Amino acid sequence: MINKNLQIILKSRPKASISKQNFSLHQSEMPLPQAGEVLLKTLYLSLDPYMRGRMYGATSYAAPVKLGNVMIGETISEVIQSNNANFAVGQLVSSPHGWQQYAISDGNDLVALPKYDVSPSAYLGILGLTGLTGYGALIRHGQPKAGETLVVSAANGGVGSIVAQTGRNLGCNVIGITGGEKKCKILETELNIKALDYKDSNFSTNLKKLTPKGIDIFFDNVGGDIAFEALNNMAVHGRFLVCGTISFDRNAPQDKSHDRFPNAFAQLLIKRLKVQGFIFDELIDMKEEYHQQAIKWLKDEKITFREHIVEGLDNAPEAFMSLFRGQNIGKLIVKV
Ligand SMILES: NC(=O)c1ccc[n+]([C@@H]2O[C@H](COP(=O)([O-])OP(=O)(O)OC[C@H]3O[C@@H](n4cnc5c(N)ncnc54)[C@H](OP(=O)(O)O)[C@@H]3O)[C@@H](O)[C@H]2O)c1
Repeated sequence: MINKNLQIILKSRPKASISKQNFSLHQSEMPLPQAGEVLLKTLYLSLDPYMRGRMYGATSYAAPVKLGNVMIGETISEVIQSNNANFAVGQLVSSPHGWQQYAISDGNDLVALPKYDVSPSAYLGILGLTGLTGYGALIRHGQPKAGETLVVSAANGGVGSIVAQTGRNLGCNVIGITGGEKKCKILETELNIKALDYKDSNFSTNLKKLTPKGIDIFFDNVGGDIAFEALNNMAVHGRFLVCGTISFDRNAPQDKSHDRFPNAFAQLLIKRLKVQGFIFDELIDMKEEYHQQAIKWLKDEKITFREHIVEGLDNAPEAFMSLFRGQNIGKLIVKV
């Protein structure tokens, strides 16, 4: 008889950067579903870079997690008790109930998983918001055409690997940026694209060499120095897509000693660039199209995906921090 629910709570807000001390493990009483409610058992928890921003007190495009609350996050969960006619026991759903083993829902925030022939965890990665963000933003905002040069940063990651393979399947000349030789090899052998190591001291020169006609589309997951190097190599009428800025913590104190804005704005003008930021929920209308396309590509072996699965909810804080050290290859998921 299970009578405790293991949860991971936001204990304190980060001072400079996040640390394990910001989280605490908590055993709460097992929740009981009331009329109309279901009891969910978490199977898989998605760990995503945006969660770092929610640990600070400031509101950006979403409200922060309150101190003492369970860390937010998307899960794949199983209905294990049901008082709701829409959800049968055994049904798998995606749920927003965060870093905990069990949760109660009235069903309004649950989405039943489609029945594609993939593992349930795939609905957090390739068939989840991660994959949709990569595909949807590239198609809608990047408008890729065969023969164009597409450069994507964090190309081995959940979003980046989908962007890279989508571009490749559409006939673009794709260059993936990643950290270190091992990760470069994976881009070349598994994703079949060109690779560029940003940790190599010749990164800037190598980027120029690989993009002699300039970059038509830069899909940026990283920000900082890598983004500025790309900006300086854009082609005329290029599209510069700002997906994420994982290389710096927007809430932590910034080094303002080197102001790169004047040059950045000059590049926007000189190259007549389009810069587009986006948030995944504005791409939801493309979910069905993306699922059809991704399933077809999976069947035809035209797309592949890696999941970096960590076992055990208590390992979630350490696993989460590893994202910012580049220790994951593929979509980071906790098997709860
Ligand atoms: N706009 C949206 O709606 C939306 C939705 C989903 C994700 N995102 C953003 O997309 C980006 C990728 O997310 P993801 O979930 O797919 O994560 P991910 O790429 O699977 O994991 C993060 C990767 O970022 C790279 N990285 C970390 N710190 C870095 C640094 N200082 N400099 C350069 N690279 C660094 C590392 O790869 P390397 O070892 O290759 O450097 C790391 O493996 C994030 O910025 C995230 O915030 C945005």
